[in-house]
Parts: sequence; C-alpha cells; structure tokens
Amino acid sequence: MSKPLVGIVMGSQSDSPIMEEVSRILEEFGIKYEITISSAHRSPKKTRNYAKGAIKRGVEVIIAGAGGAAALAGVIASETTLPVIGIPIDSSPLKGLDALYSTVQMPSGVPVATMAIGKAGAVNAGILAAQILALKYPEIRKRLNTFKMKLSQGAGKR
Ligand code: RP5
Repeated sequence: MSKPLVGIVMGSQSDSPIMEEVSRILEEFGIKYEITISSAHRSPKKTRNYAKGAIKRGVEVIIAGAGGAAALAGVIASETTLPVIGIPIDSSPLKGLDALYSTVQMPSGVPVATMAIGKAGAVNAGILAAQILALKYPEIRKRLNTFKMKLSQGAGKR
C-alpha cells in the first residue's frame, strides 16, 4: 500500500485539531492518507479539482470535515464516485448544528455518509473508512477485528 488510500480534506487549518483524530485512527489501522485544506466557498476550484482527481491518484475513500455552512463534503461528493464521509465541525456560533444539517441534508442522488459533530465524528470517520477498505484489504479487516475485540473488553472511550 504505497499510495494514500484515504483523502482527508478540511475547510480550514482551524479544523485540524478535530481532523487530527482521523489521522490518528488511520495510523492505528496502518492506512496511508493525504491531507488537503480546501474550502467549498473560499477555494471552490481547488475543491472541485481535488474531488475530480482523487480517484486517479488511487484514493479510495474521502473524508471531509468543515464547519458553518459546510458544503465541503457535498461538493466533493458531487464530483466523484468515491464514497465520501462527512464530519460536521463545531467551529461556529451554532456549535456545529449548522454544519451537521449542511453535511447530512444532501439531495437524493448525492450521498454523504455523515458522522456525529466534532471529535466523535472524526474518530468514527476514520473507523468507517477502515471498514470500507477492509472489504478489499484483509490486513485492515484483521486490525478491525482486533480493534472490536479491545472495544468489547472495555479498552476505553476514544
Ligand atoms: C469553515 O469555516 C471551516 O471548515 C471552518 O470550520 C470554519 C472557519 O474557518 P476559518 O475562518 O477558521 O478559516 O469553512
């Protein structure tokens, strides 16, 4: 696995404390990733080009996190056939409720697998990406089985 399999995208550098949780989980599962900062509103061309080019670079799952009127995951999903996982970030005065609605309420035909707001969502995005990749990569499935076993033994909250 030399190429990044997961593309992590965030709307702003200010989202990185939450999005680092995604990287941490992917590293636990030994999954390579790339990180891009691109905003659906402030850098729309960069965002669309990123989404269009991801599949050719070998990316298999995209995880997008943004706050406020969070169009990022949806815009990316509109430009790719890769599965897109969205994380609403609680960076606004509405504490992520705006980002949750913006990310989850996609029109029929353009799905975004939307996680919980904030840190739990970031952790779960990493795990869900691993679960998608495990359909193809048996070594990731093995690590997920170990992870599940530790969870059931009360290895602690993440
Ligand atoms: C969103 O606006 C970003 O995803 C971030 O959560 C929020 C604030 O961005 P900055 O003003 O810190 O760049 O687009």
